Amino acid sequence: MTQSPGQGNALDNLLTESRTFPPSDEFAAQANAKPELYEEAKADREAFWAKQAERLHWDTKWNQVLDWSNAPFAKWFVGGKLNVAYNCVDRHVESGHGEQVAIHWEGEPGDSRAITYAELQREVSKAANALTSLGIGAEDRVAIYMPMVPEAIFAMLACARVGALHNVVFGGFSAEALRTRIQDSEARLVITTDGQYRRGNPAPLKPAVDEAVAGAPSVEKVIVVKRTDTEVAWTDKDVWWHELVDGQSDQHTPEAFDAEHPLFILYTSGTTGKPKGILHTSGGYLTQASYTHHNVFDLKPDTDVYWCTADIGWVTGHSYIVYGPLSNRVTQVVYEGTPNTPHEGRHWEIVQKYGVSIYYTAPTLIRTFMKWGADIPAKYDLSSLRVLGSVGEPINPEAWIWYRENVGGGKTPIVDTWWQTETGAIMISPLPGVVSTKPGSAQRPLPGIGAKVVNDEGVEVPHGGGGYLVLDEPWPSMLRGIWGDEERYRDTYWSRFADQGFYFAGDGAKYDSDGDLWLLGRVDDVMNVSGHRISTTEVESALVSHPTVAEAAVVGASDDTTGQGIVAFVILRGGAGSDAGGAEAIKALRDHVAKEIGPIAKPRQIMVVPELPKTRSGKIMRRLLRDVAENRAVGDVTTLADSSVMDLISAGLQSGK
Ligand code: WTA
Repeated sequence: MTQSPGQGNALDNLLTESRTFPPSDEFAAQANAKPELYEEAKADREAFWAKQAERLHWDTKWNQVLDWSNAPFAKWFVGGKLNVAYNCVDRHVESGHGEQVAIHWEGEPGDSRAITYAELQREVSKAANALTSLGIGAEDRVAIYMPMVPEAIFAMLACARVGALHNVVFGGFSAEALRTRIQDSEARLVITTDGQYRRGNPAPLKPAVDEAVAGAPSVEKVIVVKRTDTEVAWTDKDVWWHELVDGQSDQHTPEAFDAEHPLFILYTSGTTGKPKGILHTSGGYLTQASYTHHNVFDLKPDTDVYWCTADIGWVTGHSYIVYGPLSNRVTQVVYEGTPNTPHEGRHWEIVQKYGVSIYYTAPTLIRTFMKWGADIPAKYDLSSLRVLGSVGEPINPEAWIWYRENVGGGKTPIVDTWWQTETGAIMISPLPGVVSTKPGSAQRPLPGIGAKVVNDEGVEVPHGGGGYLVLDEPWPSMLRGIWGDEERYRDTYWSRFADQGFYFAGDGAKYDSDGDLWLLGRVDDVMNVSGHRISTTEVESALVSHPTVAEAAVVGASDDTTGQGIVAFVILRGGAGSDAGGAEAIKALRDHVAKEIGPIAKPRQIMVVPELPKTRSGKIMRRLLRDVAENRAVGDVTTLADSSVMDLISAGLQSGK
């Protein structure tokens, strides 16, 4: 299952990067992060994290910072009690900032809404009362399947407020993907919208919910926000948001929950076909989300306007739109739509309109902006920007430099932040104002975080060496398990380096000669397409569920824009007609994958082949297929059960079959 780290990765030959960008004196002087943080954390890690936890309001203080006695199941801030939503909303109103805008919401069609903290408090309170009226309370699971509308954030915070776990499912996922996530988490309630705006047009969303709920008996009610005003079918489980929520009292007293009270489940792809429900809890998660957001983005709540372009369907939206920023009393932009609707300058128009000062996005989008051309951002006033961030996949130095020059006016620090759904918050990133940034490198673990690169035996590699990224100390926002599957949690993350007790992240990494970290992509069967994790097996199962497909193998091939693109090799069933490999059939297969998982999982390319390369034990050798997909000479075939298979595949592809 593991390939050697960095194999076939374009970053390999870019590791000679020697440019560095020291912070300006002005930036360093005003930076939230100070160089002493590293020393402080090293001197006493637990005391350091306890100090970070003081950023929050605790109803009851903890009596133990970390309980690691039942490793790998951590407990942080043991005995402490807090309400996460109170920390993100009410306390800012109580400290006199009720009139500060929390969210500048920008709809795709051009409608907008400014929501102050006082208003956010009222909206979240009403939604919390609505949940209570439906009998939803502590430990219940609520699936949220919504576009980027303010109600999605109200709904998440309302769940946190009453102690229910939200399970946000990306609005681009299919009915089938939604159903499995609802079923696995046994959600009692689904919150959705009638439709969503996508590339200028309203598209229905609720039909997918109807389909999913039909196969998910745990669901008792579906709350529907009216967004696009599209006509929707109605069932006796459905209730309109405006009818249920608007009439509720806007007063709600938050209850304090245990620091380890579960906050949310978020499903992510693993190496098998079944997505994993990553479980996060309250006190440690919020502590690290808040600490990292404050230091990595240098947020100044009174003057900054922050914008994270992620969708709340992903962990970045959870930690860096909802919990981190709101706990820090941010003023932020939330944008509903796509970056090229109605034109390719939409993001820069928004930056100019709101005076955005901190902008956090993904390399795939930066590379798309590069393709659209530097003349587009050049048309807008972007001088308000002072910190830029990147997340989701390795950022190539070329894109990094383009970003700094064309978006950051050649002056802004860029924070390349490495983390995962599982880590809950940023783990590796330069601290702006402290660290000289280096294009393409995520550089070093944050103060309080232990990360290193080790070889197969778990021994740290020297500077200049490569291997596997591991985390060697528990951290506050670490996942507390996989929903309903303790064994899978141990197996997936803790078995690879069990002797050393390391968390195995699944990423390959290198140290350069300065000891800075370079991430090299996944070393398992997980692909990273536009910063989204999709497992090869998930797409393979979708393909073989189509009646014409006998067998399928999927690989992630490098892609200039999306990082990796999905390339599928399929063997069709004997009975399939002569046109089976034709354009129509291929289209049908791509559509089938979109229906099973979602459009993001559609293969970029599907090749019909007579055979698949397998080892004697029957394992598909993806390495060889990746060679084909990336147009390289096919590597060593000696471990194949039948070494002529690759010739057959290549011959078939050349003859255009
Ligand atoms: C990749 C997203 C290189 C990595 C927050 C990781 C990155 C996976 C970076 C997690 C980065 C994320 N540089 N690779 N700055 N950030 N990754 O769970 O492979 O959607 O394991 O979390 O994305 O993806 P996830």
